[in-house]
Amino acid sequence: MQQKKSNTIVIAIDGHSSTGKSTVAKALSDRLGFTYIDTGAMYRAVTLFAMQNGIISNGILDQARLEEQIGRIGISFAETQPGSAPQIHLNSRCVENDIRSLEVASYVSTVSAIKSVREKLVSLQRDMAASGSIILDGRDIGTVVFPGADLKIFMTAPVDIRAKRRYDELIAKGSDVAYQDVYDNVAERDRQDENRAESPLRKAHDALVLDNSAMCKDEQLVWILNKMQEKGLVAGFL
Ligand code: DC
Repeated sequence: MQQKKSNTIVIAIDGHSSTGKSTVAKALSDRLGFTYIDTGAMYRAVTLFAMQNGIISNGILDQARLEEQIGRIGISFAETQPGSAPQIHLNSRCVENDIRSLEVASYVSTVSAIKSVREKLVSLQRDMAASGSIILDGRDIGTVVFPGADLKIFMTAPVDIRAKRRYDELIAKGSDVAYQDVYDNVAERDRQDENRAESPLRKAHDALVLDNSAMCKDEQLVWILNKMQEKGLVAGFL
């Protein structure tokens, strides 16, 4: 297991799809100056690789071929312009927008259920934490990637609220999607994430539950900063 530096802080934010984990994790990283890693983006990038290389075709994933080619998949986070927030790159190309399509979303649960994919990405995530304090969001951060994280948060909200948020987001970006398709995708991803054999989505026993159904981003940020303060991880932020 990768050891974190003793004076660095690891914050694990897990939870259901479309709970706004990345929005709050990003805001927290801006506030604290910690590195932010969107681990869902990493699984989406592997899925995009499979789609672009004919490993997913006609709706079918060729698992053996993906495993064979896994060494060809390079994933990193880098600034696209000096000073901008780091964005996900697949083999040195920025794919931040491409990985957000509904098509990628509809295959990502299948790809993320594959053991060798998880092993590769978990190892990368642990390496990323070696250089300083970090916030990671995902499904297995507090249970598998960093079971010793300094603070674990489990974010959730009812499916219809999450589907409406994701639908509004896609529409705002100009996608032509139907609400029912987005709802079905969110519900299906919950089912797959919770029922897969490899690292299923679970609340870690020591994670704090944040139901953000009726909370804005700033309220969530203050909620987390309060928990950090209670644990002595930050002092006097208010
Ligand atoms: O957070 P997201 O919706 O971008 O994640 C995309 C998918 O990746 C999600 O359906 C489950 C998977 N995932 C995972 O299995 N483990 C993680 N640590 C992060 C995401």
